[in-house]
Amino acid sequence: MATALASYDFTRRLKTVSDKDVNELEENFLEPARAFDASKLGDHRLFPWEMTWFYGEPVWDALPEDKKLMLNRLTFCQSYLPTAVAEAATNTLNFAAALETFIKDDPEVAHYMAREVVEETMHIQAFFLIIRKVLDHYGLTLDELRAANVSLPMATRFVQAHALVGWLRGDFDYYYFTRFALNVNQKTVERCTIDEPQMDPCVKLILKNHAIDEARHMQMSRGTGKVALSRMKSAFARNVACFGFAHFAANIFIGRHKKDSRLTKGTRVRTLELCGVPRAEAERAYLAWRDRVNQPEDPPLVQAGRVYYLKQMISYVDELPGVGPRMKAYMRRVIEGAYDDAVLAMQRRGTKPLEFADLSRVA
Ligand SMILES: [Fe+2]
Ligand SMILES: [Fe+2]
Repeated sequence: MATALASYDFTRRLKTVSDKDVNELEENFLEPARAFDASKLGDHRLFPWEMTWFYGEPVWDALPEDKKLMLNRLTFCQSYLPTAVAEAATNTLNFAAALETFIKDDPEVAHYMAREVVEETMHIQAFFLIIRKVLDHYGLTLDELRAANVSLPMATRFVQAHALVGWLRGDFDYYYFTRFALNVNQKTVERCTIDEPQMDPCVKLILKNHAIDEARHMQMSRGTGKVALSRMKSAFARNVACFGFAHFAANIFIGRHKKDSRLTKGTRVRTLELCGVPRAEAERAYLAWRDRVNQPEDPPLVQAGRVYYLKQMISYVDELPGVGPRMKAYMRRVIEGAYDDAVLAMQRRGTKPLEFADLSRVA
């Protein structure tokens, strides 16, 4: 137990930073969300232009400028609605982890776990405020957006699966381990959105503040994942965790992906429909986009984003303690197999991963 307590010492440093951040949640999130005025968006974007769904496809080129902007803004809504929902899901697990830690482990570690719940709750509130304003601007309702986003119930499945594993294991280490892949994927999109030249300033400020909080949450996931593995006594338990992580990480993505699902397809097609494209045409456009018919290669920003995610996952796998070379090679194969486009981009075209400058609260 003493080793485990010492191993989680990094959470004390995270909590010291959070102690300051928590007092500024209102100012960092709610104030810019309240100030955001969708009627004054003009030509401001809410998502990286090149990462807008269907960017560069014939269906995109056929859209008038105002509909291109609408699709860009709805891509933001359809990305941040699941982000808000995923954060509500993680809150359930964060607090369950805090509960176990209050009972069995170091209360200071538990306080930090519970602190993330406070932060996520404010993030969720800010995202919903923005999303509702964007929808109002386009005469759409939240119900219409939710109906178009058919993958939302996956968040409930995520909580149920990890609650079951947590109950069986008596801790939530495995949840933090998998959360790292979600954190990296979210960071990739969010940092590109912040860097988008025509971003709306209020949303940019919220996303910058969010990226700073989430960088800390990612340190929590990364640190806890490694400690969790080193605490597992048997090689079998570690191998099961690594097997699960590799397949989970291989299924997380931005842009187009080999392991795409019916749910992703449904969300993309219905969002295009909200922009006025008839269902049959939207379905055809989706298949051509997914199958790389018109654009075999992703737009440069998407490609560099996918390379970034892949590199982050591979370096995490390389760092995992107590995992043998055969399992690490297997994990790399699984993740690279799903990201073969990014592997090719690196090998054949020398595509470099995205590089992000440090963020600070001061503008
Ligand atoms: Fe968040
Ligand atoms: Fe988070």
